[in-house]
Amino acid sequence: MELFDVYPLYDITPVKAKGAYVFDKEGKKYLDLYGGHAVISIGHSHPAYVNAISKQVAELGFYSNSVKNPMQQELADKLEKLSQIKDYSLFLCNSGAEANENALKVASFHTGKDRVIYFEKAFHGRTSGVVAVTDNENIQAPFNQNHKATKIAFEEDTESLESELKKGDVAAVIFEVIQGVGGLDEASTEFYQKTAELCKKYNSVLIADEVQSGYGRTGDFFAFQKHNIRPDVISVAKGMGNGFPVGGVLIDKSIKAKSGMLGTTFGGNHLACAAGISVLKVIEKENLLKNASDLFEYVKEKATEIPQIKKIKGRGLMIGLEFDFEIAQLRKELLFKHHIFTGASANKKLLRILPPLNIKKEHFDKLFKALKIVLK
Ligand SMILES: Cc1ncc(COP(=O)(O)O)c(C=O)c1O
Repeated sequence: MELFDVYPLYDITPVKAKGAYVFDKEGKKYLDLYGGHAVISIGHSHPAYVNAISKQVAELGFYSNSVKNPMQQELADKLEKLSQIKDYSLFLCNSGAEANENALKVASFHTGKDRVIYFEKAFHGRTSGVVAVTDNENIQAPFNQNHKATKIAFEEDTESLESELKKGDVAAVIFEVIQGVGGLDEASTEFYQKTAELCKKYNSVLIADEVQSGYGRTGDFFAFQKHNIRPDVISVAKGMGNGFPVGGVLIDKSIKAKSGMLGTTFGGNHLACAAGISVLKVIEKENLLKNASDLFEYVKEKATEIPQIKKIKGRGLMIGLEFDFEIAQLRKELLFKHHIFTGASANKKLLRILPPLNIKKEHFDKLFKALKIVLK
């Protein structure tokens, strides 16, 4: 049987990975500055993570959500402790799109409303509701276009936001604090605070999509924390499982659960919890939030050595280096000549860097050395 051909593939076959490095079947070593789309948080094959998963799968890999699983509570407690956010409850699922899909559903159940506001250049996933609030018509089928969704500009335009909210039918406003796929744009604290205030005023749920920016990637546990707001719902995935498919929705306690309101077969299974708990333990033990902040300062400093870099976007280890030319060829050379994985975005001049959170200065030295050679 052929594979359904939806991914443009590099001719590279990884068979092993360790820390910040990936090895292909010929034994070539690649520096992973992209973490497989921001997924690798604590490094490939971290020994604590490998031990936790191996031990768990030998004992009990899976049982359904019809029995008690205390590991889910342990994960929720650790997440609360590390993120330092209080009075949320956790629903566990399997991916970023599923987390956002559930977030929208919770908002609609809670408010009894059915329209969602999203922002220009947003990316929230590919399933039915969330692709409808993703700013990319190419990935929406006709079926997805029947949702009630309204796009507004991602800038200091709270007037249009208020005029939409005033109509009274908006269940949720969903946003990425720092846009990932869109190209690392972040609005001002005033904008986020005003958006939160307007959501309260018009009884709409504010959903922070932290699928990419959460779990310490920006140097804060959640990117919204810098802006001093309290979203009603927060979605997480990617770094949460360091490659094991785990997602979650953190829901303000004022929003009440009802039996059967949400559900999943695989979400929160024993193996997923073992992965998720071990990720949080490593983030804490290795002080990875601080590493993310510190290394961003180092990258800013190193970037001044490359005159073609015009702007540095993002925070922590969610970084965009904006060049004065389109970077498709540069990325290819970094990958095939210097064996460094990087990412792209909707902004064709932006090189996206999303490495494991325990990366070191010397890894960035390799990147900047390679950039100097390619740009000579
Ligand atoms: C901000 C954001 N939300 C949601 C998603 C979708 O996550 P998944 O691919 O796990 O469904 C992504 C994936 O890139 C993302 O970056």
